[in-house]
Amino acid sequence: MIRPHTDTTVAGLIGRIKRRQLLRVGFLGATLLALTELTAIVVPFFRVNKILGLGAKIAVGSKQSVFDQFKASNDTPILNVEGKFFLIHAPGGVVAAYRKCTHLGCTVPWNAGEDQFHCPCHGSLYDKHTAVVKGGPAPKPLQLFHIVADPSGALIVDTNPLNVIDRQANIWNPKDLEITE
Ligand code: FES
Repeated sequence: MIRPHTDTTVAGLIGRIKRRQLLRVGFLGATLLALTELTAIVVPFFRVNKILGLGAKIAVGSKQSVFDQFKASNDTPILNVEGKFFLIHAPGGVVAAYRKCTHLGCTVPWNAGEDQFHCPCHGSLYDKHTAVVKGGPAPKPLQLFHIVADPSGALIVDTNPLNVIDRQANIWNPKDLEITE
């Protein structure tokens, strides 16, 4: 039921107009607040997050610096924790081996005492220079990430796990070498 206004004076009319304006401003404010909150919730879904670690392209220094490290350490594989790979001194060059065991996916560490990679889960062993299987249940060598040298000479490892060199035969194939000495 709509009640008629009892105050018909000019002051009453002004009061009613002010109330209406106040209501409008309040409604507008509430709408703007709701839109702002909605934007804050929705926008992050459209933002492309920068990929860090596994999946990113990781610079590992110059070719010379990598081979200098091999020389100084009796070819100890160089671990990159974020990228989940080892740089390995392969015959005639360097490769980046994804440290995911090809048996059931455990993270494969370097075993300095054994001078080979030794998976802690079920004992698969991988060769120091090629990451081919030397023993255990692993069905194939560790996968390799692609490496390129950028114009400045820095080596860049592409750690996209969907774009690996997936070696099926358990032998070293020189064709898999992308960076030569
Ligand atoms: S996961 Fe590595 S040996 Fe089974």
